[in-house]
Amino acid sequence: MNPAYHPRHLLVTGGAGFIGTNFVYYWLDKYPDCKITVLDALTYAGRQENLQPLDEKPNFRFVKGDILEQERVENLLRGAQIDTIVHFAAESHVDRSIYGPDAFLRTNIDGTHSLLKAAKTVWLDQGRLDQHRFHHVSTDEVYGTLGPADPAFSETTPYAPNSPYAASKAASDHIVRAYQHTYGLNTTTSNCSNNYGPWQYPEKLIPLTIAKLLQGRPVPVYGDGQQIRDWLYVDDHNRGIDLIIHQGRLGETYNIGGNNEQTNLNLVSTLCQLLDQRFPHAPHAPHRQLITHVADRPGHDRRYAINNSRISTELGYRPVETLASGLSRTLDWYLEHREFWENGDIALFGEHKEKA
Ligand SMILES: NC(=O)c1ccc[n+]([C@@H]2O[C@H](COP(=O)([O-])OP(=O)(O)OC[C@H]3O[C@@H](n4cnc5c(N)ncnc54)[C@H](O)[C@@H]3O)[C@@H](O)[C@H]2O)c1
Repeated sequence: MNPAYHPRHLLVTGGAGFIGTNFVYYWLDKYPDCKITVLDALTYAGRQENLQPLDEKPNFRFVKGDILEQERVENLLRGAQIDTIVHFAAESHVDRSIYGPDAFLRTNIDGTHSLLKAAKTVWLDQGRLDQHRFHHVSTDEVYGTLGPADPAFSETTPYAPNSPYAASKAASDHIVRAYQHTYGLNTTTSNCSNNYGPWQYPEKLIPLTIAKLLQGRPVPVYGDGQQIRDWLYVDDHNRGIDLIIHQGRLGETYNIGGNNEQTNLNLVSTLCQLLDQRFPHAPHAPHRQLITHVADRPGHDRRYAINNSRISTELGYRPVETLASGLSRTLDWYLEHREFWENGDIALFGEHKEKA
């Protein structure tokens, strides 16, 4: 085990997106003496408003910018003496990667490489050999798909990405590994299962379903709905990243999962039941009548499952939320933040495609 690492100033890329926003709040709440600079290009998925309540804090700064601007990143790292990068910025939606892979290769591969080059220039070439970390946030989708009886993905499962999104994340994982192995950059990587929680853009299954159910509109379910995912509440992901940054082995990858395997159809049905309990007299109750099966996504992976014994055994990781408690908290958040999904600037991706 490495001696514990104590970051002083984090550069959080993609901090105005779903997980990044939750991470920034989680971190500043737990480590109020730490500084955070968020670097985010504010694509369709990023919202600076998410972080507005932090504007007055002296230890928080938001910078609008692209991770591909290497010199700019170098200036940020140098100027603010940043010692740790937590790299969330990515194009993250599988459907969009099917219809337009270019942006995924640009941000997820070239962008990650650009960040690594900046980190190498500032931290290694100028002699700060120990006190730095580059934590790369990745996905379980790099491992491909599982059959019903296959063992869950472990860190030694061979990579077999199936979508352009997964392939671009797989490539970025390999580049991070190479920078550790070849140049000695202090890196760690986490490969996490499907996240859900506050601030998730409502093109993803859970917020999309909640938004459609609250609006009394048809809820699309791909194909037979029997695709299995392992769901993790977003702050349980953040807890895992926290442990890895502080105590993880350098150059190591850690799988993070929630032991919550569910078919998409079960998950959507559970959300319908939650809505029935909260709004028994809604005109569209029982809400399950809104479920509509639509043509399946091309190349749709059938099953993901995570074996998280490495992070559990080495770092003592345990998810805190159950699926029931996490979904209930998430629904509460979407009910309290209608402006996040109701106003016109957030359109559902399926609707974009229909108009195109
Ligand atoms: N959401 C999940 O279930 C999940 C699961 C495992 C891993 N991940 C990984 O976690 C990370 C965050 O995912 P998310 O769901 O929060 O994504 P998201 O799409 O909600 O947010 C991505 C953020 O990155 C920013 N961004 C995009 N391109 C950029 C660029 N070139 N330069 C700077 N900023 C840029 C966007 O503006 C946005 O704020 C991604 O790397 C994703 O692969 C996500």
